Amino acid sequence: MRASIRHIWKLSVIVLLAVYTQPSFAEEKACPADHAGSSETGSRREAAEIIPPGNGVGVPQVTEMNWPGKWELFLKNSGVSAMHAILMPNNNKVQFYDATIWRISKIKLPPGTPCHVYDQKTNAIDCWAHSVLVDIETGDIRPLLLSTDTWCSSGGLTVDGTLVSTGGFQGGANTARYLSTCANCVWREYPKALAARRWYSTQATLPDGTFIVVGGRDALNYEYILPEGVDNKKLYDSKLLRDTDDPTENNLYPFVWLNTDGNLFMFANNRSILLSPKTNKVIREYPQLPGGCRNYPGSASSALLPIRLEVENPPVIPADVIICGGARQDAFYRAETKKIYEPALKDCQRISLNERNPVWIAEAMPTPRVMSDAVLLPNGELIIINGVKRGTSGWGNGRDPIFAPIMYTPNKPLGQRFRELAPSPIARVYHSIAVALPDGKVLVGGSNTNDGYKYDVMFPTEVRLQKYSPPYLDPALANLRPAIVTTATPKQIKYGARFDIRIALNQNDVTKENVLVTMLAPPFTTHAVSMNMRLLMLGIFDIKKEVRDLHQIHAVAPPSGNVAPPGYYLLSVVYKGVPSVGVWIQIV
Ligand SMILES: *[C@@H]1O[C@H](CO)[C@@H](O)[C@H](O)[C@H]1NC(C)=O
Repeated sequence: MRASIRHIWKLSVIVLLAVYTQPSFAEEKACPADHAGSSETGSRREAAEIIPPGNGVGVPQVTEMNWPGKWELFLKNSGVSAMHAILMPNNNKVQFYDATIWRISKIKLPPGTPCHVYDQKTNAIDCWAHSVLVDIETGDIRPLLLSTDTWCSSGGLTVDGTLVSTGGFQGGANTARYLSTCANCVWREYPKALAARRWYSTQATLPDGTFIVVGGRDALNYEYILPEGVDNKKLYDSKLLRDTDDPTENNLYPFVWLNTDGNLFMFANNRSILLSPKTNKVIREYPQLPGGCRNYPGSASSALLPIRLEVENPPVIPADVIICGGARQDAFYRAETKKIYEPALKDCQRISLNERNPVWIAEAMPTPRVMSDAVLLPNGELIIINGVKRGTSGWGNGRDPIFAPIMYTPNKPLGQRFRELAPSPIARVYHSIAVALPDGKVLVGGSNTNDGYKYDVMFPTEVRLQKYSPPYLDPALANLRPAIVTTATPKQIKYGARFDIRIALNQNDVTKENVLVTMLAPPFTTHAVSMNMRLLMLGIFDIKKEVRDLHQIHAVAPPSGNVAPPGYYLLSVVYKGVPSVGVWIQIV
């Protein structure tokens, strides 16, 4: 069975390679055929095919993948329900935390750790852990003490890979917390670090590796995080947040993406601006986005699409943002007060930030979606996963979980970019997460639409963790998978510098036309927002074949912190759409 499939696959590659020499024919035939088959997500496996480069110049050939992917249960009990998550650099552990206010989880603090005193007057204590480090290979769980409440907080990584967590509930609202990657590191908490209370705010990394924190409930302003231990007192008013504050908010957890020019694209509810973090001036306003609201509780999913770099970059490097799904402006009100769960928005909207006259360009998803997670994969595709078809964020406000993720391929022609993937057996509604892992899989966890850990309800609190293997991990494509030779690839690179990556790959056409080098910044994920998620496709100077199946890729590091803030990234080499296992690289 397996052998015959591989045979068919090889044959079709040969046939389609022949077709590929006539681009107009291939463009017409290959893509609609793929689209027609996209709604079937069973165990069907088809012959893969080579499609022509989308519309761009220099976009590498990609193997068309019809395998719908595969789900596996990774852990039955992750200890805490994963409301917030981030992949930590170097130690390959994922940090999860929930809300200390719940005073219960599924894992105790380690023996010898003092319990968390949650009421100073009565000395009432909570000995459950609300933060865990989960080893993504072994499943080993290390519980950690948190003293301030992280409920609905924000986060990001410093240049040296330390997690900075900001905001939260009650005593956690003005807090900045630090967790480094050393084996015995514990949380360091500074409850007065922020000038405003930040609950449902967004943290974004700036070109120098420091952070801005934007918005939050009753915080229509933003501020910059000062060095560890220094309390900030300075606030900046945000007209964007004031203008978009609806009766049910709809502008919490705003989308904040660092544009390639060093300015911040900020999107709240249905409006967006470009803000200079240097002068704190609004540089431009983008057209309003009709159709409904896109931020919490009408939570859409957003991503800064892959940034394509060259050996010599133009003065303006294109950057596109996508926003998918969301809810009607009154959807939260109707769910909360009338128990009416409106259909979510079905459109995805994309805008090119640096064009002279940017416009939103719409494309329909296969189903409506709210509170899904957008996850950039190392090969430059975007997976949209988790969430529901009706309702909004908030306790018990979602209905009709979406079990099948969808793949968005940014370079395909408009109207052909989505395909549906294999469904998961587990509902992931409010407070769920998804994280891209170094091996190319996606870790999926959380889901708790209850105030506390509850099981006798419509959507029980989820502590199971799954791994989803995207189509590029089709076992039939294993021979296309490059392996980075880590001993011959640097661990640190400098802006604009050329560097060599050695890979092992037993293929004949390992050329610039077929290869991508990508760098993925690990995002902080919560409430359908993936803060700081960023994928760079590096300029490749040349590729030389060495002995046996080894190849040396001469790549060029990103030009500046505007394009790639300093810090850790997962470096992957992608051959015909199939990524290597990622290795950590730090840019400084
Ligand atoms: C944007 O949202 C506001 C509500 O905050 C609404 O009044 C306005 O009509 C919306 N704009 C568009 C273009 O839909």
